[in-house]
Amino acid sequence: MKRIQTIKEVKNEMCRYRSEGQVIGFVPTMGYLHEGHLSLVRESIKQTDRTAVSVYVNPKQFGPDEDYLQYPRDIDRDADVLEKEGVDVLFTCQDREMYPKGYKTYVEVQDYQDVLCGASRPGHFRGVCTVVLKLFQIIKPDIAFFGQKDAQQAVILKKMVKDLNAEVKISVHPIVREKDGLALSSRNALLRPRQRKAALCLYQSLQIAKQAILKGQTDSLKIIHLMKERINKEKQAQWDYVEIVDKNNLESLSKVIKGETLIALAVYIGQVRLIDNIII
Ligand code: PAJ
Repeated sequence: MKRIQTIKEVKNEMCRYRSEGQVIGFVPTMGYLHEGHLSLVRESIKQTDRTAVSVYVNPKQFGPDEDYLQYPRDIDRDADVLEKEGVDVLFTCQDREMYPKGYKTYVEVQDYQDVLCGASRPGHFRGVCTVVLKLFQIIKPDIAFFGQKDAQQAVILKKMVKDLNAEVKISVHPIVREKDGLALSSRNALLRPRQRKAALCLYQSLQIAKQAILKGQTDSLKIIHLMKERINKEKQAQWDYVEIVDKNNLESLSKVIKGETLIALAVYIGQVRLIDNIII
């Protein structure tokens, strides 16, 4: 595996692969890798000839009061793990190269960026879209791999690619969970043992929603009420949002519609903000 730290060098390496006619897969990450990230890496290795992974904690997607500084980092461990998986290129980048002094250009996906996570994290998806488009310009992948864990991010990036005619396929893959159902997240490392237990309320509230729907409940407000009831039982937990939306355009749904419904939530466990979702 090549560990590359400059844009020029990684562009050259990717250019070489392209000139050999190789299909390029790309997995953008912020590192502190876990099995969720690795499921995307494995998918890329399976589907493409060359896999590049980026590890870059993008300052532009964190608000001023968010956990940019606390975000867990361990680049040497990440490099070891990726090398063992058979990744071709690990790209890391300095902030001053990604956003040099005088940087001015941003990408926004209107409306989609303002709901769910975007409502409580203004500017977050602007930061995500900007860095992901920059990374696409640098790596020029044929296929980029994303997790359903960040459902809104996947919908927004698909829309960005479509609207801007970018030449990349966005491939989205299922959420990887712990045995007890907790969705894997780099932020889980920030949970204390008691908080780790409380964090199960995200998955369990989604299961409660699923059961209610299987029994015939289609009223979103009623389902959301049941979910909030479960979350409110945890002293350490404070929901940020619990919403039922159209899985393609993120518009609020008053009724659950077969095959089209995304149930998504964000919950603070202490200071740690976790997200989860299911498609029904
Ligand atoms: P990060 O949170 O590191 O996630 C990188 C990719 O891993 C995303 O596509 C995310 O959806 C996926 N992922 C995370 N946890 C997962 C899980 N439990 N199961 C399956 N996939 C999972 O998302 C970002 O970084 C950033 O916003 C980024 C796109 C890199 C832009 O900075």
